[in-house]
Amino acid sequence: MRKPIIAGNWKMNKTAAECRELVTALAPKIEGAKCDVVICVPFTDVALAAELVKGTDIAVGAQNIAWADSGAFTGEISAAMLKEAGATYVIIGHSERRQYFGETDKSVNARLVQALKNGFTPIVCVGELLAERESGETEKVCRTQVVGAFDGISAADAAKVVIAYEPVWAIGTGKTATDEQANETIGYIRSVVKELYGAAVADGMRIQYGGSMNAKNVAGLMAQPEIDGGLIGGASLKPDDFAIIVNTAK
Ligand code: 13P
Repeated sequence: MRKPIIAGNWKMNKTAAECRELVTALAPKIEGAKCDVVICVPFTDVALAAELVKGTDIAVGAQNIAWADSGAFTGEISAAMLKEAGATYVIIGHSERRQYFGETDKSVNARLVQALKNGFTPIVCVGELLAERESGETEKVCRTQVVGAFDGISAADAAKVVIAYEPVWAIGTGKTATDEQANETIGYIRSVVKELYGAAVADGMRIQYGGSMNAKNVAGLMAQPEIDGGLIGGASLKPDDFAIIVNTAK
């Protein structure tokens, strides 16, 4: 049995003051949650969020991590910085990073190695563009991204990773993949993990769906056997909606 995991990806939203408001409103609504709950906040909110979630079941994550320990990497953030601030999860390779900031399978792999070396639970994002789905390349794209991300990573380390399947055409568009589409592609991704690491790692790996997941469609998505949770953008910024999503994931 895989324990579901619901993670909010706040993206570039919420100042520290707004973070305080959101976490304070959210925490009591999800007491006793039956899934793992994570909020992946902007760097400037990590330390505050970590302080605010003390005594709750909410964990805090970041949205990126540098592959180097320290040094001349302007604009990046190190594992040690994130750890000290209280993050335990980190999103790696989100499609917005790939699309706008030049992230590649190679850089995703380097960041993943660093996250694992430093004891974080990485959430590695994969997913196809609309044109790729329409030309029947969904599986090929997801395979390439998974194989690239896990290059050189041991089975023991791979077992600690969460994958988020986020079809790019479903992100922020209000256009969700159907329950069956999401289930099918996640099942395919699991088969790739099985090829790489065997059945035990594949069967234990939690694979989330992400892309316009919300309070209304969460039940249908979570009822699918391959879907182990969600990576939630827009709806994670609204405490009532995010709480419904968390409380539906059991
Ligand atoms: P939305 O839920 O806003 O579509 O964003 C999904 C996402 O990109 C989460 O990482």
